[in-house]
Amino acid sequence: PLIKELFGLTELEEALRRHLGLRRVIIVSGDADQSQWVKKEMGRAGARLLREEARPGQVVAVAGGTTVAAVAEMMAPTPQLKETTFVPARGGLGEAVELEANYIASLMAKKTGGSYRLMHVPDQLSEETYRTVIREPHIREVLELLKTARIAVHGIGGAMEMAVRRKSSMELLRHLREKEAVGEAFGYYFNRQGEIVHRMKTVGIRLDDLQRMERIISVAGGASKADAIAAICSVACRDTLITDEGAARAILEKA
Ligand code: G3H
Repeated sequence: PLIKELFGLTELEEALRRHLGLRRVIIVSGDADQSQWVKKEMGRAGARLLREEARPGQVVAVAGGTTVAAVAEMMAPTPQLKETTFVPARGGLGEAVELEANYIASLMAKKTGGSYRLMHVPDQLSEETYRTVIREPHIREVLELLKTARIAVHGIGGAMEMAVRRKSSMELLRHLREKEAVGEAFGYYFNRQGEIVHRMKTVGIRLDDLQRMERIISVAGGASKADAIAAICSVACRDTLITDEGAARAILEKA
């Protein structure tokens, strides 16, 4: 009943902001499930926000996925962004290279004239090699830099979609199904209650690190991501969500 009264995007933004308990919600019209243009519009909104929020000398932690990549594509140089260091939020998660945080951080730097650091931690290492790699001085240095990040930009995915896209094992797929995982962000899988049911083995920021940041920009849309966004925003987002009408209406309808 409530949803029918919410015609304008501004009202929808306020309703979703209150429902999810966030500081700010930005909604673009349309549904990213239906059209690629909508993802581009979320990208444009994300790029605009980053431009407005940027401070010289800042570190921005960047996560992976197609939506954060859309933000990167829309970015352009500004004096503040030229003095920004873009750092991947986490190491490899088994994605195609152009969807990895590493690549997207480098793309943001390229688009803005800023600088970037890479965190080359492959995703399929034995436990022993993994432990050695994360002790490497250059990895430690990037991890230290991440701790100073002022802003984090990240996407949110449906749990099963992400697990399949990352070619996860049957065992993990079964585990996620059993635990009723609905969403994923930063390599963490969450259930509907916002509890972590699985974390991927890689280095980078942990959810606690987000608490220290001034801005957390979450970018995710499409009605199919409604459950994922609702679950993850209750614990991890807290700050700014950029989404689309499709996801916003679906979240509020289910509320
Ligand atoms: O962690 C979340 C995913 O990276 C989101 O990916 O933006 O391509 O749906 P996506």
